[in-house]
Amino acid sequence: MDRFLTSDDLAKALRADVRDGLTSTPKALPPKWFYDERGSGLFEEITRLDEYYPTRREREILTARAPEIAAATGARTLLELGAGSGEKTRLLLDALSGTLRTYVPVDVSGDFLEEAAAGIAADHPGLTVRAVVADYEQHLHLLPDGERRLVAFLGGTIGNMPPAKRVGFLAALRATMSGQDALLLGADLVKDEKRLVAAYDDAAGVTAEFNRNVLAVINRELDADFVPAAFEHVALWNAEEEWIEMRLRSTRDQTVHVRGLDLEVRFAEGEEMRTEISAKFRRERLESELAAAGLELSRFWTDGAGDFSLSLARPVA
Ligand code: AVJ
Repeated sequence: MDRFLTSDDLAKALRADVRDGLTSTPKALPPKWFYDERGSGLFEEITRLDEYYPTRREREILTARAPEIAAATGARTLLELGAGSGEKTRLLLDALSGTLRTYVPVDVSGDFLEEAAAGIAADHPGLTVRAVVADYEQHLHLLPDGERRLVAFLGGTIGNMPPAKRVGFLAALRATMSGQDALLLGADLVKDEKRLVAAYDDAAGVTAEFNRNVLAVINRELDADFVPAAFEHVALWNAEEEWIEMRLRSTRDQTVHVRGLDLEVRFAEGEEMRTEISAKFRRERLESELAAAGLELSRFWTDGAGDFSLSLARPVA
Protein backbone atom coordinates (compact mmCIF):
# COMPACT_ATOMS: atom_id res chain seq x y z
CA MET A 1 0.00 0.00 0.00
CA ASP A 2 1.34 3.45 -0.93
CA ARG A 3 0.73 6.27 1.49
CA PHE A 4 0.78 9.86 0.30
CA LEU A 5 -1.26 10.95 3.27
CA THR A 6 -0.53 10.10 6.89
CA SER A 7 -2.96 10.16 9.78
CA ASP A 8 -1.03 13.21 10.93
CA ASP A 9 -1.80 15.01 7.64
CA LEU A 10 -5.46 14.12 8.07
CA ALA A 11 -5.51 15.39 11.64
CA LYS A 12 -4.00 18.69 10.49
CA ALA A 13 -6.52 19.02 7.69
CA LEU A 14 -9.39 18.39 10.09
CA ARG A 15 -8.07 21.07 12.45
CA ALA A 16 -7.78 23.61 9.66
CA ASP A 17 -11.23 22.81 8.24
CA VAL A 18 -12.94 22.98 11.62
CA ARG A 19 -11.20 26.20 12.62
CA ASP A 20 -12.04 27.86 9.30
CA GLY A 21 -15.55 26.49 9.18
CA LEU A 22 -16.61 27.39 12.70
CA THR A 23 -15.13 30.90 12.57
CA SER A 24 -16.62 31.92 9.23
CA THR A 25 -20.04 33.45 8.60
CA PRO A 26 -22.17 31.52 7.90
CA LYS A 27 -20.55 28.53 9.58
CA ALA A 28 -19.85 25.51 7.41
CA LEU A 29 -18.09 22.16 7.62
CA PRO A 30 -16.85 20.13 4.65
CA PRO A 31 -18.57 16.76 4.08
CA LYS A 32 -15.35 14.76 3.98
CA TRP A 33 -15.37 14.49 7.79
CA PHE A 34 -18.63 12.50 7.96
CA TYR A 35 -16.85 9.25 7.21
CA ASP A 36 -15.37 7.79 10.35
CA GLU A 37 -16.32 4.18 11.10
CA ARG A 38 -19.80 5.10 12.30
CA GLY A 39 -20.35 7.60 9.49
CA SER A 40 -19.29 5.08 6.85
CA GLY A 41 -21.68 2.56 8.38
CA LEU A 42 -24.51 5.12 8.34
CA PHE A 43 -23.76 5.93 4.71
CA GLU A 44 -23.96 2.23 3.85
CA GLU A 45 -27.34 2.21 5.57
CA ILE A 46 -28.43 5.26 3.54
CA THR A 47 -27.62 3.43 0.30
CA ARG A 48 -30.19 0.80 1.23
CA LEU A 49 -33.01 3.25 2.04
CA ASP A 50 -36.06 3.36 -0.23
CA GLU A 51 -35.70 7.13 -0.61
CA TYR A 52 -32.02 7.07 -1.54
CA TYR A 53 -32.05 6.04 -5.21
CA PRO A 54 -28.51 6.99 -6.46
CA THR A 55 -26.64 3.84 -5.44
CA ARG A 56 -29.30 1.54 -6.87
CA ARG A 57 -29.55 3.50 -10.11
CA GLU A 58 -25.82 3.66 -10.62
CA ARG A 59 -25.58 -0.08 -10.05
CA GLU A 60 -28.28 -0.57 -12.69
CA ILE A 61 -26.29 1.47 -15.23
CA LEU A 62 -23.02 -0.28 -14.40
CA THR A 63 -24.61 -3.70 -14.70
CA ALA A 64 -26.06 -2.83 -18.09
CA ARG A 65 -23.03 -0.97 -19.46
CA ALA A 66 -19.98 -2.66 -17.99
CA PRO A 67 -19.35 -4.63 -21.20
CA GLU A 68 -19.51 -1.44 -23.28
CA ILE A 69 -17.20 0.31 -20.85
CA ALA A 70 -14.77 -2.57 -21.18
CA ALA A 71 -14.97 -2.59 -24.97
CA ALA A 72 -14.60 1.20 -25.25
CA THR A 73 -11.63 1.49 -22.90
CA GLY A 74 -9.74 -1.80 -23.05
CA ALA A 75 -8.48 -0.69 -19.65
CA ARG A 76 -5.29 -2.21 -18.30
CA THR A 77 -5.36 -0.23 -15.08
CA LEU A 78 -8.43 0.75 -13.11
CA LEU A 79 -7.97 3.60 -10.65
CA GLU A 80 -10.93 4.08 -8.36
CA LEU A 81 -11.12 7.41 -6.56
CA GLY A 82 -12.85 7.26 -3.20
CA ALA A 83 -13.09 3.49 -3.38
CA GLY A 84 -16.02 2.75 -1.14
CA SER A 85 -17.86 -0.53 -0.85
CA GLY A 86 -16.66 -3.28 -3.13
CA GLU A 87 -19.84 -3.96 -5.03
CA LYS A 88 -19.58 -1.51 -7.93
CA THR A 89 -15.91 -2.26 -8.15
CA ARG A 90 -16.61 -5.95 -8.61
CA LEU A 91 -18.98 -5.23 -11.51
CA LEU A 92 -16.24 -3.25 -13.24
CA LEU A 93 -13.47 -5.70 -12.44
CA ASP A 94 -15.48 -8.59 -13.81
CA ALA A 95 -16.33 -6.74 -17.00
CA LEU A 96 -12.75 -5.57 -17.51
CA SER A 97 -11.16 -8.92 -16.67
CA GLY A 98 -10.09 -9.51 -20.28
CA THR A 99 -7.67 -6.59 -20.36
CA LEU A 100 -7.17 -5.47 -16.77
CA ARG A 101 -3.82 -6.03 -15.06
CA THR A 102 -3.85 -3.61 -12.16
CA TYR A 103 -6.46 -2.23 -9.80
CA VAL A 104 -5.66 0.88 -7.78
CA PRO A 105 -8.20 1.76 -5.10
CA VAL A 106 -7.58 5.27 -3.75
CA ASP A 107 -8.99 6.50 -0.47
CA VAL A 108 -8.12 8.93 2.33
CA SER A 109 -8.51 6.24 4.93
CA GLY A 110 -6.08 3.33 5.02
CA ASP A 111 -7.94 1.15 7.53
CA PHE A 112 -10.84 0.29 5.33
CA LEU A 113 -8.75 0.20 2.16
CA GLU A 114 -6.24 -2.47 3.08
CA GLU A 115 -8.97 -4.95 3.92
CA ALA A 116 -10.99 -4.22 0.79
CA ALA A 117 -7.86 -4.51 -1.37
CA ALA A 118 -6.94 -7.86 0.17
CA GLY A 119 -10.44 -9.20 -0.49
CA ILE A 120 -10.34 -8.15 -4.12
CA ALA A 121 -6.85 -9.55 -4.63
CA ALA A 122 -7.96 -12.88 -3.19
CA ASP A 123 -10.92 -13.05 -5.58
CA HIS A 124 -8.95 -12.01 -8.67
CA PRO A 125 -5.80 -14.05 -8.99
CA GLY A 126 -3.49 -12.49 -11.54
CA LEU A 127 -4.72 -8.98 -10.78
CA THR A 128 -2.21 -6.67 -9.13
CA VAL A 129 -3.94 -4.64 -6.45
CA ARG A 130 -2.09 -1.53 -5.36
CA ALA A 131 -4.00 0.40 -2.74
CA VAL A 132 -3.12 4.07 -2.39
CA VAL A 133 -3.89 6.25 0.60
CA ALA A 134 -4.25 9.71 -0.87
CA ASP A 135 -6.53 12.71 -1.05
CA TYR A 136 -7.76 12.89 -4.62
CA GLU A 137 -8.04 16.65 -4.30
CA GLN A 138 -4.28 16.90 -3.67
CA HIS A 139 -2.39 13.85 -4.89
CA LEU A 140 -3.68 13.07 -8.35
CA HIS A 141 -0.24 13.63 -9.86
CA LEU A 142 1.23 10.97 -7.55
CA LEU A 143 -1.06 8.15 -8.64
CA PRO A 144 0.50 5.20 -10.46
CA ASP A 145 1.19 5.64 -14.14
CA GLY A 146 0.37 3.04 -16.72
CA GLU A 147 -1.05 2.31 -20.08
CA ARG A 148 -4.76 2.58 -20.83
CA ARG A 149 -5.90 3.70 -17.46
CA LEU A 150 -9.55 4.02 -16.55
CA VAL A 151 -10.18 6.45 -13.70
CA ALA A 152 -13.51 5.76 -11.99
CA PHE A 153 -15.09 8.42 -9.80
CA LEU A 154 -18.46 6.98 -8.91
CA GLY A 155 -21.37 7.48 -6.58
CA GLY A 156 -22.02 11.11 -7.43
CA THR A 157 -19.30 12.33 -5.08
CA ILE A 158 -18.27 14.95 -7.66
CA GLY A 159 -21.48 16.70 -6.50
CA ASN A 160 -19.89 17.43 -3.15
CA MET A 161 -17.68 20.02 -4.83
CA PRO A 162 -18.91 23.49 -5.78
CA PRO A 163 -18.65 24.25 -9.54
CA ALA A 164 -15.28 26.05 -9.56
CA LYS A 165 -13.68 23.29 -7.54
CA ARG A 166 -15.15 20.65 -9.83
CA VAL A 167 -13.56 22.16 -12.90
CA GLY A 168 -10.25 22.55 -11.07
CA PHE A 169 -10.40 18.95 -9.97
CA LEU A 170 -11.31 17.68 -13.45
CA ALA A 171 -8.54 19.78 -15.01
CA ALA A 172 -6.00 18.39 -12.55
CA LEU A 173 -7.22 14.91 -13.39
CA ARG A 174 -7.01 15.67 -17.11
CA ALA A 175 -3.41 16.80 -16.61
CA THR A 176 -2.47 13.32 -15.37
CA MET A 177 -4.18 11.54 -18.26
CA SER A 178 -2.73 10.51 -21.58
CA GLY A 179 -4.63 10.00 -24.82
CA GLN A 180 -5.46 6.36 -24.16
CA ASP A 181 -6.89 7.00 -20.70
CA ALA A 182 -10.55 7.53 -19.85
CA LEU A 183 -12.66 8.86 -17.00
CA LEU A 184 -15.80 7.12 -15.80
CA LEU A 185 -17.84 9.63 -13.84
CA GLY A 186 -21.01 8.97 -11.85
CA ALA A 187 -23.28 11.98 -11.38
CA ASP A 188 -26.77 12.38 -10.01
CA LEU A 189 -29.30 14.19 -12.19
CA VAL A 190 -31.72 17.06 -11.58
CA LYS A 191 -35.22 15.75 -10.88
CA ASP A 192 -38.41 16.41 -8.97
CA GLU A 193 -37.66 18.40 -5.80
CA LYS A 194 -39.75 16.14 -3.58
CA ARG A 195 -37.75 13.07 -4.49
CA LEU A 196 -34.47 14.90 -4.11
CA VAL A 197 -35.31 16.20 -0.68
CA ALA A 198 -36.68 12.83 0.46
CA ALA A 199 -33.40 11.18 -0.57
CA TYR A 200 -31.60 13.49 1.87
CA ASP A 201 -34.25 13.55 4.59
CA ASP A 202 -35.43 9.97 4.92
CA ALA A 203 -38.36 8.99 7.10
CA ALA A 204 -36.26 6.72 9.33
CA GLY A 205 -33.86 9.55 10.16
CA VAL A 206 -30.70 7.77 9.06
CA THR A 207 -29.47 10.78 7.07
CA ALA A 208 -30.13 13.01 10.08
CA GLU A 209 -27.89 10.75 12.19
CA PHE A 210 -25.28 10.73 9.43
CA ASN A 211 -25.34 14.54 9.34
CA ARG A 212 -25.03 14.92 13.12
CA ASN A 213 -22.21 12.37 13.16
CA VAL A 214 -19.78 15.06 12.01
CA LEU A 215 -20.26 16.67 15.43
CA ALA A 216 -19.33 13.43 17.16
CA VAL A 217 -16.21 13.24 14.98
CA ILE A 218 -15.18 16.74 16.08
CA ASN A 219 -15.94 15.91 19.72
CA ARG A 220 -13.67 12.89 19.58
CA GLU A 221 -10.84 14.22 17.43
CA LEU A 222 -10.71 17.78 18.75
CA ASP A 223 -11.96 17.33 22.28
CA ALA A 224 -15.11 19.38 21.68
CA ASP A 225 -18.42 19.34 23.54
CA PHE A 226 -21.04 19.51 20.80
CA VAL A 227 -24.39 18.10 21.92
CA PRO A 228 -25.52 16.47 18.67
CA ALA A 229 -29.13 16.30 19.90
CA ALA A 230 -29.16 20.11 20.09
CA PHE A 231 -28.87 20.27 16.28
CA GLU A 232 -31.62 19.47 13.80
CA HIS A 233 -31.06 17.97 10.40
CA VAL A 234 -32.05 20.21 7.48
CA ALA A 235 -32.10 19.15 3.81
CA LEU A 236 -33.16 21.63 1.16
CA TRP A 237 -33.09 22.01 -2.60
CA ASN A 238 -31.25 25.09 -3.81
CA ALA A 239 -32.96 25.58 -7.17
CA GLU A 240 -30.61 28.31 -8.36
CA GLU A 241 -27.47 26.29 -7.80
CA GLU A 242 -29.20 22.98 -8.53
CA TRP A 243 -27.77 21.32 -5.46
CA ILE A 244 -29.08 19.73 -2.29
CA GLU A 245 -27.78 21.35 0.87
CA MET A 246 -27.58 19.66 4.20
CA ARG A 247 -27.36 21.83 7.26
CA LEU A 248 -27.41 21.48 11.02
CA ARG A 249 -29.70 23.92 12.79
CA SER A 250 -29.02 24.86 16.38
CA THR A 251 -32.18 24.32 18.43
CA ARG A 252 -31.09 26.86 21.07
CA ASP A 253 -28.53 29.51 21.94
CA GLN A 254 -25.46 27.55 22.88
CA THR A 255 -21.71 27.78 23.23
CA VAL A 256 -19.49 24.96 22.07
CA HIS A 257 -15.93 24.52 23.27
CA VAL A 258 -13.43 23.01 20.90
CA ARG A 259 -10.65 22.45 23.40
CA GLY A 260 -8.27 20.94 20.86
CA LEU A 261 -8.34 24.24 18.98
CA ASP A 262 -8.69 26.44 22.05
CA LEU A 263 -11.82 27.78 20.40
CA GLU A 264 -15.19 28.84 21.75
CA VAL A 265 -18.05 28.98 19.28
CA ARG A 266 -21.48 30.54 19.80
CA PHE A 267 -24.58 29.32 18.00
CA ALA A 268 -27.78 31.35 18.04
CA GLU A 269 -31.11 29.56 18.25
CA GLY A 270 -32.11 28.65 14.69
CA GLU A 271 -28.64 29.29 13.28
CA GLU A 272 -27.81 26.95 10.41
CA MET A 273 -24.42 25.53 9.54
CA ARG A 274 -23.92 23.98 6.11
CA THR A 275 -22.41 20.48 6.18
CA GLU A 276 -22.76 19.31 2.58
CA ILE A 277 -23.73 20.25 -0.91
CA SER A 278 -24.72 17.49 -3.31
CA ALA A 279 -24.98 18.96 -6.78
CA LYS A 280 -27.37 17.46 -9.31
CA PHE A 281 -26.55 17.69 -13.01
CA ARG A 282 -27.98 17.97 -16.47
CA ARG A 283 -26.14 16.42 -19.35
CA GLU A 284 -25.26 19.82 -20.84
CA ARG A 285 -23.62 20.98 -17.64
CA LEU A 286 -21.57 17.82 -17.31
CA GLU A 287 -20.53 18.12 -20.92
CA SER A 288 -19.49 21.76 -20.55
CA GLU A 289 -17.62 21.26 -17.28
CA LEU A 290 -15.75 18.30 -18.75
CA ALA A 291 -14.93 20.38 -21.83
CA ALA A 292 -13.69 23.24 -19.65
CA ALA A 293 -11.27 20.73 -18.11
CA GLY A 294 -10.06 19.45 -21.48
CA LEU A 295 -12.19 16.32 -21.45
CA GLU A 296 -14.60 15.22 -24.13
CA LEU A 297 -17.77 13.36 -23.27
CA SER A 298 -17.70 10.20 -25.36
CA ARG A 299 -20.56 8.19 -23.85
CA PHE A 300 -23.43 9.18 -21.57
CA TRP A 301 -25.70 6.62 -19.97
CA THR A 302 -28.61 6.85 -17.57
CA ASP A 303 -30.72 4.24 -15.80
CA GLY A 304 -34.19 3.40 -17.14
CA ALA A 305 -35.86 6.07 -15.01
CA GLY A 306 -33.34 8.77 -15.97
CA ASP A 307 -32.36 9.36 -12.35
CA PHE A 308 -28.59 8.97 -12.44
CA SER A 309 -25.82 9.18 -15.04
CA LEU A 310 -22.54 7.61 -15.95
CA SER A 311 -20.26 9.51 -18.31
CA LEU A 312 -17.25 8.23 -20.14
CA ALA A 313 -14.86 11.02 -21.04
CA ARG A 314 -11.49 11.24 -22.78
CA PRO A 315 -8.77 13.84 -22.99
CA VAL A 316 -9.27 16.24 -25.88
CA ALA A 317 -6.41 15.60 -28.27
C1 AVJ B 1 -21.46 9.88 -1.07
C2 AVJ B 1 -21.37 12.18 -1.60
C3 AVJ B 1 -22.45 10.70 -3.08
O1 AVJ B 1 -24.10 13.28 -1.89
O2 AVJ B 1 -25.54 11.68 -2.10
C4 AVJ B 1 -25.80 10.77 1.18
C5 AVJ B 1 -23.43 11.53 0.47
N1 AVJ B 1 -25.13 12.65 1.92
N2 AVJ B 1 -26.77 11.30 1.94
C6 AVJ B 1 -24.47 12.12 -1.68
C7 AVJ B 1 -24.76 11.64 1.17
C8 AVJ B 1 -26.36 12.44 2.40
C9 AVJ B 1 -23.53 11.15 -0.96
N3 AVJ B 1 -22.21 11.00 -1.67
